[in-house]
Amino acid sequence: MVLKIGTIGTSWITEQFIEAILASSAYDLGAIYTRDASKAAVINEKFGTKAAAFTDLDAFFASDIDVVYIASPNALHYRQVLQAIENDKHVIVEKPAVITPTQFEMVYSKLREHPNVRFFEAARHIHQPNFKKIAEQIKQMDRIQGATFVYNKYSSRFDAFLAGKNPNVFNPDFAGGAIEDLGIYPVYAAVALFGLPQDCQYFATKLSNGADGRGTAILRYADFDVTLIFGKNSNSYLASEIYGLEDSIVIDNIAELNSVLYHRNPTEAEQIADLPHENPMLAEVMVFAEIINNFDAHSEEYQKLLMLSQRVNNVVYQLRQTAALSFPADQEK
Ligand SMILES: NC(=O)c1ccc[n+]([C@@H]2O[C@H](COP(=O)([O-])OP(=O)(O)OC[C@H]3O[C@@H](n4cnc5c(N)ncnc54)[C@H](OP(=O)(O)O)[C@@H]3O)[C@@H](O)[C@H]2O)c1
Repeated sequence: MVLKIGTIGTSWITEQFIEAILASSAYDLGAIYTRDASKAAVINEKFGTKAAAFTDLDAFFASDIDVVYIASPNALHYRQVLQAIENDKHVIVEKPAVITPTQFEMVYSKLREHPNVRFFEAARHIHQPNFKKIAEQIKQMDRIQGATFVYNKYSSRFDAFLAGKNPNVFNPDFAGGAIEDLGIYPVYAAVALFGLPQDCQYFATKLSNGADGRGTAILRYADFDVTLIFGKNSNSYLASEIYGLEDSIVIDNIAELNSVLYHRNPTEAEQIADLPHENPMLAEVMVFAEIINNFDAHSEEYQKLLMLSQRVNNVVYQLRQTAALSFPADQEK
């Protein structure tokens, strides 16, 4: 069945998402929620769609959409997720889905009350074929002795921050900052590939408003450590690596996954990545549509994704505690 989607948020990520759902042919764009109806008109014009525009969130949730895509500032996700589930809409919510373990528990309990609703966190990289290739390669290696994952990208909004403005993505009032925005990608990769760490520590470099602009986190496993380096106030061209014995996997970027080199030894290396699709959200939207439409065949995969999302939520929250990073929205229960 072609799923009718309603979107929340009208920034570039929503446009990339709309491009992906239209390319997948699995969804139609049915509704757009925005605080400014003229932005919905721009989207309809750009994509040749006829989605209904809503400036009232209750009316949006009451409309005849099947799935809600939430790409609002992080601190707003929790309330919008709950409202979507209460209205029996499937949810695709941008990372971080919610920001505390208590909020995640509430989402779980809402899902139990609405057993036909599916809930997905849009962690696009773990659904990409090249991520699965990394997982397969790890299984074939004799021993894993650690990893370093890097995602460090200068934010287009850091100029505004430096100019004295307070863009949402760097604003603690909106649960902004490096770990919730980019750090969650390497955390996802580590937890998906190696499971829950036994312990973790985040060394955050804070900005003048208390948000983390960048930082280094260490996840401690029984036999090895995984170092995560991420930030939004500089660029880095450092590769990500997974260390075996003589062999290692070298990834150009743990969130983008354009190149995955398996180095058998210092002189032999093989490219195991396929050329990724130009839209990095295509793989995830196809997975979500398949799970929604053929749930019985994919219920185990769905449960695994849900558990992964909860584990990542736990690790990111613990990391924030170790760096004394809190948000007003942490108090929302
Ligand atoms: N998967 C990815 O690759 C990726 C990339 C970027 C961002 N994201 C995620 O997408 C989400 C949105 O990020 P973003 O950078 O696009 O955020 P943003 O630009 O700050 O806000 C997104 C949208 O939310 C609405 N909004 C903005 N400020 C608001 C406010 N004060 N109150 C209510 N609504 C407000 C706006 O839509 P209207 O003006 O139309 O109401 C805006 O277009 C975040 O969770 C982020 O982590 C994911």
